[in-house]
Amino acid sequence: MRQKTIKQLLSQATTKLDRLDAEILLAFVLKKDRIFLFTHENDPVTFFSKLKFSSLVKKRLNHVPVAQILQKKEFYGIPFLVNKHTLIPRPETEEMIEIIFKKFKEIHEKKIFFLDVGTGSGCIPIAVSKTLFNEADALKKSLQFFASDISKKALALAEKNSKIQQTPITFFHGDLLDPFAKHIKQNDITLESSFLFVTANLPYLTDEQFHSEESIQKEPKSALVADDSGLAFYKKLLFQIHTFVNSKPCRVWCIMEINPEQAKPLEIFTSSLFPNARIKIHKDLSSNERFLSLSL
Ligand SMILES: C[S@@+](CC[C@H](N)C(=O)[O-])C[C@H]1O[C@@H](n2cnc3c(N)ncnc32)[C@H](O)[C@@H]1O
Repeated sequence: MRQKTIKQLLSQATTKLDRLDAEILLAFVLKKDRIFLFTHENDPVTFFSKLKFSSLVKKRLNHVPVAQILQKKEFYGIPFLVNKHTLIPRPETEEMIEIIFKKFKEIHEKKIFFLDVGTGSGCIPIAVSKTLFNEADALKKSLQFFASDISKKALALAEKNSKIQQTPITFFHGDLLDPFAKHIKQNDITLESSFLFVTANLPYLTDEQFHSEESIQKEPKSALVADDSGLAFYKKLLFQIHTFVNSKPCRVWCIMEINPEQAKPLEIFTSSLFPNARIKIHKDLSSNERFLSLSL
């Protein structure tokens, strides 16, 4: 039997699959980039590569995200390993990194604690740590990075990504801010003249929203869905911050990624818990109310 060419395989696959997805999957199988597919479209594809490609196409048709098939995703220009145990980093979250960098410019405290809760693949603290340390050497002395997740499997992935990117982050298994608070208490760390940064992209979809979106069914529900109209984890985090600053007074800035329709209810909840705080809603590039920040 004659071997099929790259062009033939792609045109066959694109009768059922998105063209870009098919190209990405075939390039992955051939261990080449997509340009290669165009410059070698008449090259024959070996039987085993064809078999592998067919099995990946089947997975994709079964709604497995391309990033999960490839087990990698770029976030803020950095390659991350991903798997089925956590969320694939999203482009909206890259916008949070930009807001974080703007905030850094306003901080004059000598000691900064940076804590990412619900870290998943570790994309937020790794992107911040790697970019900052590349740019500003002086910050190395003042910044300490921490990250937490309730899922041990997600945490193992985040640690792996951190090791690959050589970012100095301490990872905690546990509930949101709790393991960090325990670490501060157990080690008798003083937070006087310190600044605490808390970043969070926690599950915020309702059960209904999750089930109505086919493209996310292969990502873990525990990374996406929360009770209380999707606000349960953010409310819990805000309560934990409240308790923490009562026992360890320090300046705090917390940013949370949300669904645009959660902006108003979360703002009302946050201002009732912290009547003197500065609360700000940040829009994303599509002008949606995507982040809420709290300054104490
Ligand atoms: C929406 S995913 C976001 C992952 C990552 N921050 C990102 O932006 O790609 C939410 C993460 O929060 C974690 N999570 C859920 N409940 C948690 C809790 N109570 N404490 C800590 N992490 C939690 C999940 O395991 C998941 O990894």
